Amino acid sequence: MRIGFFDSGIGGMTVLHQALRLLPNEDYIFYADTLHVPYGEKTKEEVREYIFDAVDFMANQGIKALVIACNTATSIAVDDLRQKYDFPILGIEPAVKPAVQSCEEKRKKVLVFATNLTLREEKFHTLVKSIDHHDIVDCLPLPGLVQFAEDFEFREEKVVPYLIEKLSSFDLKQYGTVVLGCTHFPYFEKIIKGIFPKEVDIISGSIGTAKNLKRILEARNQMNDGTGDIMFFKSGFKVEDKETLSNYKKLLEMLDRISLPIG
Ligand code: SIN
Repeated sequence: MRIGFFDSGIGGMTVLHQALRLLPNEDYIFYADTLHVPYGEKTKEEVREYIFDAVDFMANQGIKALVIACNTATSIAVDDLRQKYDFPILGIEPAVKPAVQSCEEKRKKVLVFATNLTLREEKFHTLVKSIDHHDIVDCLPLPGLVQFAEDFEFREEKVVPYLIEKLSSFDLKQYGTVVLGCTHFPYFEKIIKGIFPKEVDIISGSIGTAKNLKRILEARNQMNDGTGDIMFFKSGFKVEDKETLSNYKKLLEMLDRISLPIG
């Protein structure tokens, strides 16, 4: 059986890419809800409905595990999805905990980039409240980066001015770690790194999610002997046109070039 990956759009590919590195002998279904992206600018109720429709669709394809490769969808629905389906469901949360731990030692602050909806959600506030005892976590919604990724716009001359404008009221020197709390953002990791002082770490939760997936499959004795084959779906339709498939392949190759080794 295949492993399902779900996202509002192509952001989830940054998590799928880590899974392919750790679990190259699995086969995958990648579902992007491109009809409804961006989730981060919609209401919680709308997004919940989209997520449940998509996951019903994926469950009907037959999957042995599901990765909600979308921070916004995780914060809205992961707990309820787990009540409904009997396969393991993994989500992705902003990696605030390791960021706070390292910044407390460095006497620096943490800056979390995510969508508006993720940053508004109770799950995020509960997470921050439980670990940010010295009030060092700041947040910034960056919906423009989601749009850039969906438009396959990765050029510095487009992305840098947007980031500079968004960060204009922040003193970048005070941060020790930037947390990428949206799976669309790792495409821009190198650009973000170039804007901050060089000692600032940029982290995301995607490697952790891929490692968890591997651990769960091993514990359930559900490892496959596949080939890393990926079936792509867009809002309920199988992607078959060559141009889109070739663009997805290029994204995975781009991630190969920019990704750090898995520790
Ligand atoms: C979005 O659809 O707005 C981005 C979703 C996410 O990865 O948080």
